[in-house]
Amino acid sequence: MVKLTVDNKPVEIEEGATILEAAMKAGIAIPTLCYNEELTPAGACRVCVVEIAAEPSSITVTSCNYPVAGGMVVSTKSEKALKARKLAVEMLLAQHPHSEKIAKLAQTLSLGEPRFSVKADECILCRLCVRTCQEVVSAGAITFIAQGLERENKEASVVWNQDKCIACGSCAYICPTQAVTLADNQGTRVINTPSVKMEFKLKACTKCGNFYAPEKQLAYMAKTAKLPIEKFDLCPDCRP
Ligand code: FES
Repeated sequence: MVKLTVDNKPVEIEEGATILEAAMKAGIAIPTLCYNEELTPAGACRVCVVEIAAEPSSITVTSCNYPVAGGMVVSTKSEKALKARKLAVEMLLAQHPHSEKIAKLAQTLSLGEPRFSVKADECILCRLCVRTCQEVVSAGAITFIAQGLERENKEASVVWNQDKCIACGSCAYICPTQAVTLADNQGTRVINTPSVKMEFKLKACTKCGNFYAPEKQLAYMAKTAKLPIEKFDLCPDCRP
């Protein structure tokens, strides 16, 4: 076990835990955006930044992916931590002024209009979609491409591979800024992403005729569960 303090509260937690987990254990809330307890933390948005006492001067780190250490002294609301957090949220707000989640974060930090003029982009590169597709769905259809000075991609981006995508829509569900959207219409599922617009056929129930799931997703489920595809002929409502 590791002993540390968070906002002067002593906490004891397992080795390998993160500062965010230690804060939660102590009942201290740290705001997050790209964190999801089911996924590997990415430390992408920097909203969860905290200050750690260190010599010769303290450091700021992202608490969602920074491991605890014995004797660590963490401040979640120090001037330095709040300044770094406000800057992170201000940049996100400039990039995506219409996101409800980001607006709410900005409000709790009493931020006004962002001082920056940043190209408005719905994707904030938080990589929640990438991690969900890899770690929960296991389809691996979404890739984060880091900025490459000597490569073609001058800017970091997230790209979808339509061949690998099973159209489950998890990316649209998890996206905090609606950069990915999904709509089902007359037997077709349309998924709009920052890199591509994709269309997938929906399966009609052989009994009631209702479209109930993407054919690709059902094929994936049948393969993963080693079941014949006919097992998915009926929608959940018509199944015995
Ligand atoms: S929540 Fe920790 S970096 Fe985004």
